[in-house]
Amino acid sequence: MSPMNVLVIGGGGREHAIATALARSPRVSTIYCAPGNAGTAEIAENVPLSEGNLSALTAFAKEKKIDLTIVGPEAPLCEGIVDQFQAAGLRIFGPSKAAARIEGDKAYAKKLMKLAHVPTAEARIFQHHDQAHDYVSTRDTGMVVKAAGLAAGKGVIVCPDPADALLAIERIMIDRDFGEAGDTVIVEELLKGPELSVHALVDGRTIYVLDSAQDHKALGEGDTGPNTGGMGTYSPAPIATEEVLAMVERDVLVPIVDAMRQDDAPYCGVLYAGLMLTPAGPKVLEFNCRFGDPETQVLLARLESDLLDLLEATVDGKLADADVRWNPNPAVCVVMASGGYPGIFHKGKPITGLAEAAAMSDVHVYHAGTRKTGDQVLTNGGRVLGVTGLGQDIAAAKTRAYEGVNMIDFDGAYVRRDIGDKAINATTS
Ligand code: AMP
Ligand code: GLY
Repeated sequence: MSPMNVLVIGGGGREHAIATALARSPRVSTIYCAPGNAGTAEIAENVPLSEGNLSALTAFAKEKKIDLTIVGPEAPLCEGIVDQFQAAGLRIFGPSKAAARIEGDKAYAKKLMKLAHVPTAEARIFQHHDQAHDYVSTRDTGMVVKAAGLAAGKGVIVCPDPADALLAIERIMIDRDFGEAGDTVIVEELLKGPELSVHALVDGRTIYVLDSAQDHKALGEGDTGPNTGGMGTYSPAPIATEEVLAMVERDVLVPIVDAMRQDDAPYCGVLYAGLMLTPAGPKVLEFNCRFGDPETQVLLARLESDLLDLLEATVDGKLADADVRWNPNPAVCVVMASGGYPGIFHKGKPITGLAEAAAMSDVHVYHAGTRKTGDQVLTNGGRVLGVTGLGQDIAAAKTRAYEGVNMIDFDGAYVRRDIGDKAINATTS
C-alpha cells in the first residue's frame, strides 16, 4: 500500500473537515489544500490557487503526482473540473460537468425530477420577467422564487405573502441581485414541514446513503431572517428515521440516479438531497452535487471509517463493498459568522481563543473564512468558523459546541444560539 498524495479543493469549513478526516487515514501521506484556510494550514500544505483556476489546478495535480483530488465546492464541478482532470489522466472525486447540472441548473433538476417522478414542489420556469410577473400576479398563495443558476445558496426567496413574490422576481430578473444565475427563475409551491439533508455516495450505479444531518439555513433564531449558506447543523436528525431514509432512497435517490444515467450524465460523487418532510411524504427542495457545508462538519466528526477508503470506493465504482461506521454520539456544529453576513461584512478581525477551544475534548474547531498573518488568525469571510461538539445526545453535543464557541471571540462575531433545539424538542415532546 503506497502512501498517497491528496488534494482538497476549496477553502471553507467543509474542506477543513474533509482534510481533517483524510489526515486520520494511515494511507495518506501529504494533503494539499487549494486555497485552504488557516485551519487547513495546520494539517495540510495550502496552495495559493483559487478553486476556479481549473487549468492551474490540473497542472499542479500533475506536477505533484496527486493520487486523488476531492472537490469541495459546486462552482468548479459545474465548470467541469472533473472532466478536465480525467482528460489529464488524474483521479478525482466528484461529478462530471453534465452531472453537476443537477445543482448548477435548477431548471434542469426540476425537469429531470418530473421525468423521473421524483416528488418535489410543483413549479413553473420562466426566462422573461413579464411572463413570470403575469403568472405570479394570478396567484393568491405563498410561493418560493429561485434563481436557476448558482448563487452561493442565497438565490432562494421564500415568499409566504404572494405580493413578496412579485418583488422577488423583480430582484432576481430586473435588479439582477444574483447576476446571470437569475437569467431563469423558478416559481414554486411553498411546501411546509421539517427539513432534512440526506447525503449519499453514488458511484454511477450503487447508492450508499450516509447518516442524516439537519442544516439551519436562516440567519436568525427560530429560522427567521434571510437565508444563508447554513448557520449550523446537527447529525443524526431524529426525524430521519430508518423508514424516512428508506423512502428517500426508494422515491428520490434511486429514480434520479437512474434518470441521470439514462440522460448520459451518470452521477459519481456525493449527491445531497435537500428535502422537506411534508404530510404527503418527503419532497425535494434541491439537489447539490457535493458535500454540504456545514453538514460535512457534523458528518465527518462522527465518521469512524476511513474517509479515503470511501472516496476511493466511489471513484472506482466499488461502493457495493463499502463499510461505513459512525460514532453513535450525535454532533452539533455552530457557525460563527462575521456581523453583517450574508450581507456586507468586514474581514481582517483578529480571532482569540482558537487554541483553547480546539484543545477541548469532544470539540472540533473547523475553520471556514480565516487566514493567518504571522501568529495571528484573522477573519476572512462571512462564515468564519464551525465549532462542532459531540455528546451522548444532541443536548449534550449542543452544550459542548457552545462551550467551544464561548471560548472564541472576534469583533462582531454572530452566532445563532438555538442550533440543535429542533432535535431536542422533537425528542422530548
Ligand atoms: P434551496 O437552496 O433550494 O434548498 O432553498 C433554500 C431554503 O429555502 C430551503 O432550505 C428551504 O428552507 C427554503 N425552500 C426552498 N424551496 C422551498 C419550497 N418549495 N417550499 C418551502 N421552502 C422552500
Ligand atoms: N448547507 C447547505 C449547503 O451546503 O448547500
